[in-house]
Amino acid sequence: MTSLIRSEIVAVIGAGAMGSGIAHVAARAGHPVLLFDMNAEAIERGIGSIGRDLDFLVSKGKLDAGERDAVLARIVPATALEGLADSALIIEAIVENLDVKQTLFAQLERIAPDAILASNTSSLSITAIGAALDAPERLAGLHFFNPAPRMRLVEIVSGLATSRSVAETLYDTAAAWGKDPVHARSTPGFIVNRVARPFYAEGLKVLGEGAASPASLDAVMRDGAGFPMGPFELTDLIGHDVNYAVTRSVFDAYHADDRFIPSLIQQELVLAGRLGRKSGQGFYCYGEGAERPLPDYAPAAPAPRSVTVCGAPGLFAPLVARLEAAGVSVSAGEDDPCCPPCLQVGSARLALTDGRSATRRSVDEGHDDLVLFDLVKDFATAETIAAARSDRASEAAWQAALGTLQAAGLRVVPLDDVAGLLAMRTVAMLANEGADAVLYDVATPRDVDLAMQRGTNYPKGPLAWADEIGLECVAAVLENLYAHYGETRYRTSPWLQRRRLAGQPLVA
Ligand code: NAI
Repeated sequence: MTSLIRSEIVAVIGAGAMGSGIAHVAARAGHPVLLFDMNAEAIERGIGSIGRDLDFLVSKGKLDAGERDAVLARIVPATALEGLADSALIIEAIVENLDVKQTLFAQLERIAPDAILASNTSSLSITAIGAALDAPERLAGLHFFNPAPRMRLVEIVSGLATSRSVAETLYDTAAAWGKDPVHARSTPGFIVNRVARPFYAEGLKVLGEGAASPASLDAVMRDGAGFPMGPFELTDLIGHDVNYAVTRSVFDAYHADDRFIPSLIQQELVLAGRLGRKSGQGFYCYGEGAERPLPDYAPAAPAPRSVTVCGAPGLFAPLVARLEAAGVSVSAGEDDPCCPPCLQVGSARLALTDGRSATRRSVDEGHDDLVLFDLVKDFATAETIAAARSDRASEAAWQAALGTLQAAGLRVVPLDDVAGLLAMRTVAMLANEGADAVLYDVATPRDVDLAMQRGTNYPKGPLAWADEIGLECVAAVLENLYAHYGETRYRTSPWLQRRRLAGQPLVA
């Protein structure tokens, strides 16, 4: 354990949203904190906002009033950088500009020769910031998430020159502060801002294909796949200007790799000034009295009396149990090696998406009446699911499939016949990006999953989720998407491929 000791001084530079939050965290952990900003009023505002945050904790019974006063008393404004000379750790949270950060750290390494230097940058290279230093080994990224007192993830980012002991000390210190630290190599987007890109990108692409409305697609991801929010309500909250800028910066930093290609739909919103909640309109309207549109669920269809299960349902076995519990008679059909597991209701065949469109698959399988359903977080408890029918399927088959899913207690969001539906393709792409982050030594599998759960509140780590779905299935989804679109953004991560071939999970 090499964390800072409590009596050691932590300095925070930049008293804005992030700096004041970080000062709050360090002071609550017991450190004397020096808060500096080039704008003295910002320090006052920052300390005022920390006071309000602490008051809130007191009002909720999470902090006693005496401790509140002690925490505030530990945060002292600094009037000049020279006053930070005795700090053990200096955390920078100023404007996101490489030149300005380089100039600041060049001053700091002279002023505080024994301090660890840390940047809260979310998009700049730690290697590039360190290039301006005589001793770049003293610098690392210490990337908190907003709001810093509440979000548990901290990415400890090592540049090319960062010393191991500096990274370890920051890791142990963040852990001692009650955070969940992860190590990341300094690469564009670090872990979270890289691995999360497909969450937005796949939603935007499916929306672009006119598969369903934003409200319907949000319901699929939120109430079906278990994410805290769907991609459209989330980007409205983040702000399309901010979300688009992060995507653009990751895309540019990876030399226009089409994995990260920005969305024209989102660009249009930014150009129109429809930035989301903060501007009153994004995908949704937020003006006085504006009502959120409802998802378009399929109207009730007649429940089937009986269903035949062909093959081993595996992942969706709980769906079969839900049908039985609802009084539908379930019988086992023939296990056809040419056809993946499915439910048969009259002529309708109902199967989990494998990344092919329903139309493509109905041709491949020689069965017109095909309906595909999406991945959900848990087939035993999900409330909502997406489904799509082959263009060759009859209306009667579609109604039989809808009635079956509804009989299991699911609200069905019909999608146009988009390949991989929405939740399955998104989760497969999140896992694929996480696998590439592991392949290129950005982070360990454990840290990728922890980062996505703590930094974005995903319901499961994407790598563990891929293991649960089965790597054969995830790889098939990616290969089918690649074949469907002919776009290299869907290329399978070589590491995912390797684990699949070896029969080994992504997360040990
Ligand atoms: P902010 O705009 O709220 O605060 C920045 C503060 O830095 C301002 O008070 C400003 O007066 C001060 N400042 C600017 N240049 C300075 C300098 N040369 N010397 C001293 N003080 C200076 O910005 P925010 O949102 O707190 O972001 C700060 C850093 O944290 C940026 O690097 C940003 O990329 C990063 N970050 C931001 C997150 C967010 O959600 N806002 C999340 C994670 C990281």
